[in-house]
Amino acid sequence: MTVVTTRTFTPDAAGLSQAAAVLGDGGLVAFPTETVYGLGVDARNSDAVARLYAAKGRPGFNPLIVHVASLDAAEAYVEFDDTARALAQAFWPGALTLVLPLRADAGISPLVTAGLDTLAIRVPDHGVAAALLAAFDGPIAAPSANPSGQVSPTKAAHVADHMTGIIDGIVDGGDCPVGVESTIVATQPRPTLLRAGGLPAEAIANAVGQDLAMAGDADAPTSPGQLASHYAPKGTVRLNAVDINEGEVLLGFGAVDAPLNLSPSGDLVEAAARLFDALHQLNAMGAAQIAVSPIPDHGLGAAINDRLRRAAAPRSG
Ligand code: TXA
Ligand code: MG
Repeated sequence: MTVVTTRTFTPDAAGLSQAAAVLGDGGLVAFPTETVYGLGVDARNSDAVARLYAAKGRPGFNPLIVHVASLDAAEAYVEFDDTARALAQAFWPGALTLVLPLRADAGISPLVTAGLDTLAIRVPDHGVAAALLAAFDGPIAAPSANPSGQVSPTKAAHVADHMTGIIDGIVDGGDCPVGVESTIVATQPRPTLLRAGGLPAEAIANAVGQDLAMAGDADAPTSPGQLASHYAPKGTVRLNAVDINEGEVLLGFGAVDAPLNLSPSGDLVEAAARLFDALHQLNAMGAAQIAVSPIPDHGLGAAINDRLRRAAAPRSG
């Protein structure tokens, strides 16, 4: 792959108009959202989307989330049923991605949906993302701004570490407050959780007035992105570790003695915000065997455990 110059854009009007111009030319620009940094391209430009897949080393069948400025803007791309509209009104802008039928006249590159007839879409709750969407004035397709299979970035420096020389620019907007990706929900044929994430599933179930089906249940849709070792750090990962074996580095949670602790006070929100940075730090430490303290499986704990389980999945290469 050719080496490109990676510019840094300031998150002010001047920087964002430069970043928007790069997007308009089919460039790749990383930007902060409330969840994680996204690697953005013009969702209507297939050449740009193809470059994005190449830059991420992402399998071509793994579709992307499109980011838009508002529910109104989203209506141009997908068909909202009543449940979807109620969820959008309740949680947008925010860490909720809705998978909905793609409109025939949407003009979205088929590479974005990987040929599916549905589109994943959300309105991010971050001032810099909102200002970039306003400056660009179009749909931005953006996966997390990490090489495929690696940890999602929650700081501009995480993006720069892996993507310098590969992408056209990075808007530095500080740390991402939520720290894990959006929760993904499909509403058809019934409300289904496709990926646990920054918005607790319980809040969504409350809003729709019924429990969510889980991806993989009978007649529930599945998310093609649920690759087993998608969130892999370089070391092996052992979950629910109450003792540490020789050679292991402990990633702690709660009141344990550990070189890295997701939340000494046992706060799941704090733990989610620190999770990916901790995995980056473990990689930087060269940790070959990682043990993780037990983490409760409710609220954001479900998203954290989901990601750690993937990290723990057996893999080759
Ligand atoms: O918080 C987030 O969601 C971040 C920020 C940047 O918005 N984005 C993100 O994108 O996590 P990515 O590409 O890393 O994950 C997108 C997930 C994948 O698991 C993909 O398979 C799923 O969304 N997805 C996309 N389109 C889909 C569709 N039409 N049906 C089912 N799943 C879909
Ligand atoms: Mg990702």
